[in-house]
Amino acid sequence: MSTFHEKVVYQIYPKSFKDSNGDGVGDLKGIIEKIPYLADLGVDVLWINPFFISPQKDNGYDIADYVEIDPLFGTMEDFEELIAVTVEYKLEIMLDMVLNHTSIEHEWFQRALKGEKKYQDYYILRDPKADGSHPTNWVSKFGGPAWAPFADTGKEYLHLYDVSQADLDWRNPEVREEVFNVVNFWLEKGVKGFRFDVINVIGKEEVLIDAEDGVGKSLYTDRPIAHEFIHEMNQKTFGKQSNIMTVGEMSSTTIENGIAYSNPDKQELSMVFSFHHLKVDYLDGEKWSKMPFDFMKLKKLLNDWQEGMSKGNGWNALFWNNHDQPRAISRFGDPIHHFEASAKLLAQTIHLLRGTPYVYQGEELGMTNPEFQEITDYADVETHNAYKELQDNGLLPEEIMEIIKEKSRDNSRTPMHWTDEKNAGFTTGEPWIKVAGNYPEINVEKERKEGTIFTFYKKLIQLRKKMPIIAEGDYRGVLMDHPSIYGYVREYEGEQLLVLSHFYAEAVTVEIPQEFLTRASCYLIGNGEKRVLTAKMELGPYETMAFYFEADEKKKG
Ligand code: NOJ
Repeated sequence: MSTFHEKVVYQIYPKSFKDSNGDGVGDLKGIIEKIPYLADLGVDVLWINPFFISPQKDNGYDIADYVEIDPLFGTMEDFEELIAVTVEYKLEIMLDMVLNHTSIEHEWFQRALKGEKKYQDYYILRDPKADGSHPTNWVSKFGGPAWAPFADTGKEYLHLYDVSQADLDWRNPEVREEVFNVVNFWLEKGVKGFRFDVINVIGKEEVLIDAEDGVGKSLYTDRPIAHEFIHEMNQKTFGKQSNIMTVGEMSSTTIENGIAYSNPDKQELSMVFSFHHLKVDYLDGEKWSKMPFDFMKLKKLLNDWQEGMSKGNGWNALFWNNHDQPRAISRFGDPIHHFEASAKLLAQTIHLLRGTPYVYQGEELGMTNPEFQEITDYADVETHNAYKELQDNGLLPEEIMEIIKEKSRDNSRTPMHWTDEKNAGFTTGEPWIKVAGNYPEINVEKERKEGTIFTFYKKLIQLRKKMPIIAEGDYRGVLMDHPSIYGYVREYEGEQLLVLSHFYAEAVTVEIPQEFLTRASCYLIGNGEKRVLTAKMELGPYETMAFYFEADEKKKG
């Protein structure tokens, strides 16, 4: 049986994947229709973003019922059919569990509002300070204070995210039992994996205090009790089966914690998403800013996480894209002048690392940011909050739009491009968000006929399954001081795999370290001409190449 080291996950943002009934919103039947396409790509697991009952204030991350399908996406029968079809195609389903908070429309919150003590204890309610200010000075991740009035009780409830997303109190054993039941419910339906939303912020202290930095992250992130809760969830739910793959979304985490969450001995999760490498274009740590990405920082972060997690026997989820990130090709590549090369460079760099790769819908086609011009073209709550905040800070509308065009989460949430027909073949109705204008050039139909990106992804996915060095090999960074090449070597039972990725458009010549010149190697995969490894190599625009070194007879295990 293959382990999650050999697997590749494909992320589906259901709202924007495929609409089967013409209401402009993607749905479960749409996903079913496209299963053969996903099976052809060769991925193993489909992570589907939340499709549970929700007022959709944060696109489904505000859940009002954890065990019912929102009619927007279909029915429980559709879900059961989806499971059956995926089994037929040897694919597995990974669900998105948003257990840090519920929607304020969830029955628990509503009953709490009505005065039921039991449910009030499900949430984090506190009195304001004596001077009438909020219980703590913490800031919500979507802007503004992290506290809101709890009806007219005089108390306030904690919401680390939108005001419509109330944090659950995991210290309450009844809350833990409820959320564990949710996980078990979906396991019984045949789900084989879970992505746990912001799971490293579930452990709040009993006594909440003001943060010295006026933000508060360190007071609720990666607290030791979060590890205890995750371990307990493991033991009471998915850990009872041997084949369930889990990934924790870890907000602002550390390598040390990443190891603890994912080292198998700890019995917490299979792997972690960390985000530091996607903050290398944040000016002074501020997301809503504009700056070219810092390549040296990017490669140092990738390298530190690879080496660190490897040393502690932790496991990384490998990704550039998801529904919260702008499209990586627009951010780190050049979709205008070096479209295929930069799409493949990003793919190869990630897929040959130690960890489990994730492909976000449309990435396999090279989908880009849509470059919407008007704020009204954006739907995301975080984007609109940021617009207001930037306005309050005195920025002009044009300046704000320049930032939003690069940073908005909607960059990756536009509909999937299936064909060059109206609305990219995503819907026969009015899409809930505009389709990116370049769909006639970038779409599945065209890519399958004449493109090379999809087949490149396919090859990378197959290589991971065929070559233990990719799935299991150790990792070591090489050429760490080089200003435009990220290099690394994977090592396994005497074999080596050297990967060189050049992140810029100007060609560059690099001296290959002596250790790789004394052994025979062959060109395994890359986005340029097949090459022979020599002492000096010229790498073209966004060129990536991987050389394989067989084990010496004596080293063969
Ligand atoms: C992380 C999710 O990926 C994001 O989309 C969501 O807004 C927050 N968690 C809050 O649930």
